[in-house]
Amino acid sequence: MGDKARGDKAGKNARDGYMAEHLEIAAYQLLERLAQKAGDQETAEVARQNRSDEEEMARRIDQSWDRTLELTLEENGIRV
Ligand SMILES: [Fe+2]
Repeated sequence: MGDKARGDKAGKNARDGYMAEHLEIAAYQLLERLAQKAGDQETAEVARQNRSDEEEMARRIDQSWDRTLELTLEENGIRV
């Protein structure tokens, strides 16, 4: 086994996490609007709060792309 396994685990994790947060954001956007149409302000508020949490998570991932790339390069033994 001479070849070391190479990959892009860090990049894929960040990409998948970023995608998942945005799917959740979209779902909470729709839930908030549905609840408002149904006159359910409590559910609308919970959806708004949850969306805010998901947006914060997406922002954190968004701020980590440089580090993600560094990890990916490290995983593959690439120094630049
Ligand atoms: Fe999330």
